[in-house]
Amino acid sequence: MKNLNLLLAGVFFCVAAVWTGLLVTAQVQLGSLGRAPAEEGGPLFPAREPGLAIQGRAVYLDLGCVACHTQQVRPAGQGSDIARGYGVRPSVARDYVLQPQVLLGQRRVGPDLANYGARAKSDAELAAFLAAPAAGVSHPPYAFLTAERSAALVAYLKSLRQDYSSPEAKLKQ
Ligand code: HEC
Repeated sequence: MKNLNLLLAGVFFCVAAVWTGLLVTAQVQLGSLGRAPAEEGGPLFPAREPGLAIQGRAVYLDLGCVACHTQQVRPAGQGSDIARGYGVRPSVARDYVLQPQVLLGQRRVGPDLANYGARAKSDAELAAFLAAPAAGVSHPPYAFLTAERSAALVAYLKSLRQDYSSPEAKLKQ
């Protein structure tokens, strides 16, 4: 085959272009994204999760909560998330920079939890809800959770907050 080298060069070029487009561009745009203060000189956001919440994240992953819950608030023009009270502003990439795994979720069967910490019930009520949801509430019961895992999961859910001003998504004054 006369043009084999040309063909291979073409294949290489296509793979290289896709790789550059997908990986390198994303890395250049977002790779160095860090925390930022909501106002000059203020504390940095997103805040670090307390240790118990980090353990709770593992429980959340383990129990597959991502199968029904998302953690991403869409902008006002792209859905009714903000009108439904899921968040006070859209989610932006910077919100996730501290997370080792970003749990955006697979499907939204239950409410979005990106800003759940801002509207959470008390610790005891939340633990009771997860262990045994009231009759008529379509939620799987997690009655088998030990007190330690339940406390960690509650701490994780309460740590979920996207209610601070971010350079890409300022809160309306
Ligand atoms: C089978 C789908 C499903 C799974 C799995 C699931 N949820 Fe839910 N979740 C729902 C639905 C539906 C609701 C809304 C229930 C209602 O109020 O009627 C909900 C509500 C909630 C709420 C209250 C949200 C709010 O805005 O008031 C929290 C918190 C919650 N779920 C946490 C969890 C956690 C933590 C897990 C994993 C341990 C989990 N869910 C697993 C479907 C699910």
